[in-house]
Amino acid sequence: MVLGRNSACWCGSGKKYKNCHEAFDEKISEYKRLGYKVPGHELIKTPEQIEKIKESAVINRACLDYVGAHIGPGVSTQEIDDWVAKITRDMGGIPAPLDYEGFPKSVCTSVNSQVCHGIPSDEDILEEGDIINVDCSTILDGYFSDSSRMYMIGDVTPDAKQLVEDVHEAVKVGLDAVKPWRTLGDMGSAINNFCKSKGYSVVREIGGHGVGLEFHEEPWVSYVSEPGKEMLMVPGLMFTIEPMVNMGKADIFIDADNDWTVYTDDDSLSAQWEVQLVVTETGYELICW
Ligand code: MF3
Ligand code: CO
Repeated sequence: MVLGRNSACWCGSGKKYKNCHEAFDEKISEYKRLGYKVPGHELIKTPEQIEKIKESAVINRACLDYVGAHIGPGVSTQEIDDWVAKITRDMGGIPAPLDYEGFPKSVCTSVNSQVCHGIPSDEDILEEGDIINVDCSTILDGYFSDSSRMYMIGDVTPDAKQLVEDVHEAVKVGLDAVKPWRTLGDMGSAINNFCKSKGYSVVREIGGHGVGLEFHEEPWVSYVSEPGKEMLMVPGLMFTIEPMVNMGKADIFIDADNDWTVYTDDDSLSAQWEVQLVVTETGYELICW
């Protein structure tokens, strides 16, 4: 589509294109000519959309806060599912995982060597020493938020605690590399280098994603990528940083019984934290955590 310079900008601001996103589009085209992967307009969130997505994130954060205050030994992963489902609906939202590509529950609960997509169950009772990722995603009025946190159940081994804390730090290292007009590869390689320096392995096959108007949008986000590679991070691009980090080897397998739950191949512990952010003119703004 050719947009006249005096037409209304594609972003919906109501301003003339020449006074709004024209320079932005020219800059993107220049990067594209240089061979960079660049996002289309549909991936650039408007200020109005960002506000709606933040409202969704209020619910998502409330769920994870509640989990943090009530989780402990003796709690089943099904109870966590019940809490998340109730809080989400009480606040007017819909749990995004439920029925997503057949996922049977409202939240993912991944314990110890489970890497991700653990399915809540009455039979899985948390015990002292477990580490668990609770991955929560909310739809509010069609807008999506997505974040996950780790919880340590009672006293955990020093190694397990270190892993949980280091992976939290890895997300911060990734966030520090989020700068407009740099690439996702700059961010992903920063995370990979940090995790390798601690002796861990980052899962290669499963990554993060664009999010906001859909649960999973472009781009797919790797945390083992290379500097300068992958999509250009431009202001308005929204995605998750959610590295899955194994204490042992990077290899994983999927539970053949449910086709969902991912485990470390060597049975080592795995940890993950997930945040959702939008790229800004100066860096990033956290949307959900
Ligand atoms: N919340 C996960 C993510 O970060 C997606 C899980 S898919 C589900 O992308 F169906 F299991 F919920
Ligand atoms: Co996600």
